Amino acid sequence: MKDFNVAILGCGTVGGGVARIMSELQEEISNRASRKINLRKIVELTPDSAAKRFSLPTDLFYGHGKNLTGEEAEHYIKEVLEAEDIDLVVETIGGSNDYIENLAVKVCEAKKHLVTANKALLAERGKAIFDTAKTNDVTVGFEAAVCGAIPIIKTIKESFTGDSIISLSGIMNGTSNYILSMMQNEGMEFEEALKLAQENGYAETDPTLDINGYDAGHKLVILLKLAFGVDIAMDELSIGGIENISREDIEFAEEINCKIKLICYAKKIDGKIYATVCPMMVKNSNFLSGVKGVTNAVRVVNKYSGKHILLGAGAGSFETASSIVADIVFAAKYSERGQVSYDKQSLDFIDASHFEFPYIMTFETADVPGITGLVTTSVGHQNINIDTVSHNRHKKDRATFSIATMPCTMLQIEKTIAEITNNNPDLLLSTPKVIPILY
Ligand code: NDP
Ligand code: HSE
Repeated sequence: MKDFNVAILGCGTVGGGVARIMSELQEEISNRASRKINLRKIVELTPDSAAKRFSLPTDLFYGHGKNLTGEEAEHYIKEVLEAEDIDLVVETIGGSNDYIENLAVKVCEAKKHLVTANKALLAERGKAIFDTAKTNDVTVGFEAAVCGAIPIIKTIKESFTGDSIISLSGIMNGTSNYILSMMQNEGMEFEEALKLAQENGYAETDPTLDINGYDAGHKLVILLKLAFGVDIAMDELSIGGIENISREDIEFAEEINCKIKLICYAKKIDGKIYATVCPMMVKNSNFLSGVKGVTNAVRVVNKYSGKHILLGAGAGSFETASSIVADIVFAAKYSERGQVSYDKQSLDFIDASHFEFPYIMTFETADVPGITGLVTTSVGHQNINIDTVSHNRHKKDRATFSIATMPCTMLQIEKTIAEITNNNPDLLLSTPKVIPILY
C-alpha cells in the first residue's frame, strides 16, 4: 500500500507532541497501519523555537530560520492543501473562529483526512466540518478533543454500540480539577493553582474557558451527540464554572463527606436527555470524588453492560498527542470506516435543572437567634425534605450554614429562596449558593 503522509498545522503544546511521537514511533505506527506513515511538513508561526522545544529537524518546518507572519503561514497552509501527496492534516492551532472553521472545511474539501483536538471548534461549528467530510469521503478524527488521552470517543463510537447508554458523568476539565484538588488537598489559593496549571500547559490559551465550565461544556456537547444522538448548541446547555468556589464551600463539602468537582452530567430518562455542567459535591463513595489533579475520568452506565469507568490524563502535550497519533493510525488503516454520523435523533433534550438532584444550599445571614428556623421552615413549605443542616460558622456578626436536601428540583429551591426573601427581605446577606450533590 502506498505511504500515508501527514502535515501538522500549529506546533505548540499538542502539535509538537504529535510531531515528536510520530518521529519516535514511526516504525511501530507504520506497522500497525500496515503502511508507512510519514510526517511530511509542519506549518508553525515560530518554527525554530518549536523545533528546539520538541527536538525536531528544522527542515520539517516551512520557512524555518525566522518567525512566520500570518500571511506567510496562510501561504504555506495553501501549499499543504494543494499537495497531492498529503493524505491527512492535523489541526492543532486551536480557536473556534471563522478562520479555523474555514481551514477545517478546506482540509476536507481538499479530500484530506482531518484530525483535531479542537473541542471548541467541533462543539460550536462541527456540523459544517462533518458535512464537508462526508461529502468528500474523508474522516474527521477527534479523540483528543474530549478528555485528552482517554479513548472515550472510540469507546462510545465503537465499543458501546451493542448497548444503550443510560448516563454519563465525568471530570472533563483537567485545569479546574487541578485547581480544586490543590485548593482541597494543599490549601493552595485559586490563583496560585491556576498559574501552575498554565505553566504545565494544561490550561487553554484563554483559561477563562477552563474556569467557567465552557471547555467542559464543549466536551459534553460532543459526547451528547455520540452517546445519545442529541445535537444541541452550547447555549442550550446550562453551564457553571468553579470561579465562585471558596474554601468555605470545600469545608461544607467535607462535612457531608464530599469533594467539590466540576462535573459533566447527562442522563436518559423516559426518552429524554437531561444534561448539565456545574460544580457538584461528589460523595466520597463515588469514584469521581477521588480523581485528583489534571486527571480526567468518565463514568458511563449502560443498560446491559452496567458501569464503566475510563480514567487518564485529560490534558498535556504527549498525553493529548497520543490520541491524535491513534487517530492518524486509524485513518491510515481504515479511512473508509471513520465517518461519524451527526444526524439529529428524536430524543428531547432538557436542561438538568428540571431534574431532581439532592442539593446543598449555603446561606449567609445575620448571626442572631431564630434564623436557622426561619430558613428551614421555608424549605419545608416547598416540600423539600432536609437531609442535613451543617454547623453554623460564626464570623463577626454574620453566620453561614448549609442545608443538604433529599432529591428536589431547582424550581423548588428557587421558590424556597424567593419565600425567604419575600418574608424577611433583610435576612439573607448574599445570594445563597446552590450546588447539586452527586452520589
Ligand atoms: P498552543 O497555543 O500551545 O499551540 C498552538 C500553536 O499554533 C502555537 O504554536 C501557535 O504559534 C500556532 N499557530 C497559531 N496560529 C497559527 C497559524 N495561522 N498557522 C500555523 N500555526 C499557528 O495550543 P495547544 O497545543 O495547547 O492547543 C491546540 C489545540 O488542542 C486547541 O484546540 C486545544 O483546545 C486543544 N487541546 C489542548 C490540550 C492541552 O493539553 N494543551 C488538550 C486537549 C486539547 P505560536 O508559536 O506563535 O504560539
Ligand atoms: N484545558 C483543557 C483542560 C485541556 O484543562 O482539560 C484539555 O482539553
